[in-house]
Amino acid sequence: EKLHLVVFTPSGKRGRFAEGTPVLEAARILGVDIDSVCGGRGICGRCQVNLTVGEFAKHGVVSRETSLSPFAVGEEKFKARRGLADGRRLSCHAQLMGDVIIDVPPSSQVHRQVIVKKADDRKIEMDPAIRLHFVQVQEPDMHNPTGDFERLELALNQQWGLTELECDLRTLQALQKNLREGNWNVTVSVHRNKRITKIWPGFHNRAYGLAVDVGSTTIAMHLCDLSSGEVVASSGMMNPQIRYGEDLMSRVSYIMMNPGGDKLLTEAVRQGINELIGEVTELAGINPTDILNAVFVGNPIMHHLLLGIDPTELGGAPFALTTNSSMTIWASELGLTSNPDGRVYFLPCIAGHVGADTAAVILSEAPHLQRQVTLIVDVGTNAEIVVGNSDRLLAASSPTGPAFEGAQISCGQRAAAGAIERVRIDPETLEPRFKVIGSDLWSDEEGFDEETAKSGITGICGSGIIEVVAEMYLSGILSVDGVIDGSLAAKSPRIVADGRTFSYVIRDGESELKIYQTDVRAIQLAKAALYAGAKLLMDKFGVDSVDRILLTGAFGSHIDTKYAMVLGMIPDCNLKNVHGVGNAAGVGARIALLNNKSRTEIEEVVKTVEKIETAVEPKFQDYFVDAMAIPHKTASYPNLSK
Ligand code: FES
Repeated sequence: EKLHLVVFTPSGKRGRFAEGTPVLEAARILGVDIDSVCGGRGICGRCQVNLTVGEFAKHGVVSRETSLSPFAVGEEKFKARRGLADGRRLSCHAQLMGDVIIDVPPSSQVHRQVIVKKADDRKIEMDPAIRLHFVQVQEPDMHNPTGDFERLELALNQQWGLTELECDLRTLQALQKNLREGNWNVTVSVHRNKRITKIWPGFHNRAYGLAVDVGSTTIAMHLCDLSSGEVVASSGMMNPQIRYGEDLMSRVSYIMMNPGGDKLLTEAVRQGINELIGEVTELAGINPTDILNAVFVGNPIMHHLLLGIDPTELGGAPFALTTNSSMTIWASELGLTSNPDGRVYFLPCIAGHVGADTAAVILSEAPHLQRQVTLIVDVGTNAEIVVGNSDRLLAASSPTGPAFEGAQISCGQRAAAGAIERVRIDPETLEPRFKVIGSDLWSDEEGFDEETAKSGITGICGSGIIEVVAEMYLSGILSVDGVIDGSLAAKSPRIVADGRTFSYVIRDGESELKIYQTDVRAIQLAKAALYAGAKLLMDKFGVDSVDRILLTGAFGSHIDTKYAMVLGMIPDCNLKNVHGVGNAAGVGARIALLNNKSRTEIEEVVKTVEKIETAVEPKFQDYFVDAMAIPHKTASYPNLSK
């Protein structure tokens, strides 16, 4: 028999095959990655290839029986129905008749690379936990008295090589109806090659997943196509639990003081998530029942409340988690409006203060895969801090309080339209200029007033507070100890007395905005806690400085890194290597959604993370006191003077 040489690109895999062999069969034998849901029947169109050199047999010519297409719908039929781009062929139908070079485009690869982070083009390999398989099941007859499920199992084994499958009662309850409705053709979704999670009559081609970051302030959701890896819709909202308490600790005290209060908070967050599911499915025009997998990340208290676990124990020492392991549960257990048979994965928590959100940040930023020492800070009411490299990772949380988010600051507010977010102070005149969220203009640029008049200027958000305090220091208004210099009142009307201390008037007139001495103190306390936590971890790791610093979280990634360093929130580092990395926890959730192996990876990494409890470390207090000065009592910042 004549054998033809087949070369696949981009893998470079090659072999010789008999005339008439379907390309998909050759690919399977050589281990070339080509997608398929229909198992070579010409229905799904996932197996498309380009012929680079050579020739295939004509459409629809089946010159021999093949193992792949015993029930094939013709390629011509597929083309008529769904269309086939020029030069594209269905590899399950294209048959060899000579030597060929075949290109497998990324869209036809199961394990294609997808970009999960635009900032640094970070790519991951697709390997979703959920796969769809179309099967033809043998009909029952009097001579073959096996159950429908056993015949389905046999078909999945013969047509897809799956073994030892499990399924739950819900699947069985719908099985007979689905098999008969589909005329013995069904599509099965299988979770991690093990568990049947859903059966549809006939052919079903759609599978979606959710990546959700449940923050105490905001919830962010991405809807992803589980075959392409693309985000097809995103949405976010304020965490509806806010009505029970602004920050985490006030929510826990609400629960402690109101028996049954945990149920209300659980219900609130689940309702919020269901609202978001409604939004993203509408945006993408898909059915919520096609959402078959979801990944949730959140700090320990958000994690527990979403799961319906009372978080009271996390409100005080020793901050015991109910479980720090990862979890996989049914969507129905959370009352989600996505497919109730969908599987939901929770990343592991690291410690009582350091949650699954930090695990997701580690997965996203991968400090454990690098030689250079990374410091990661998720700036929130509790700063979650990670230091380390491929040798060791250490994590802690530090009680920064809500000052960075604008709370406890007299004119502080959430980052929303009308909030001052950027501030500069002229060192000569001490006159400020600023930028407001929702306007592109600086306050001293022409046309500024008209633009802002629409919403008015309502306060200063976290990033603005950091900048104004840092600028006050740089312009000499603040001493190293953070005291507003009252003698400047003679020089500038911006410095005014307030009892025994002074304040800085950032905006005068009717809607006056002032930075009081107490505001500066609140920022000093917060930044000192953050610095002390980072310093403690660096100490334990055995370094005086780190190679890169990443700021994450809704707030952290908005801070101008230079000002964070001017204030001494973070240790000295080459500014080129200090970055705001956006919502890294959300990216980590997407990685876990799209790549099954990454779940095992992060579970292993989290086991090795050394947890440091700042509250019981004697040195923490000393570090904290020294870090009250701006930028620091003793530590130097050579990178700032560059
Ligand atoms: Fe489904 Fe070829 S494998 S069309």
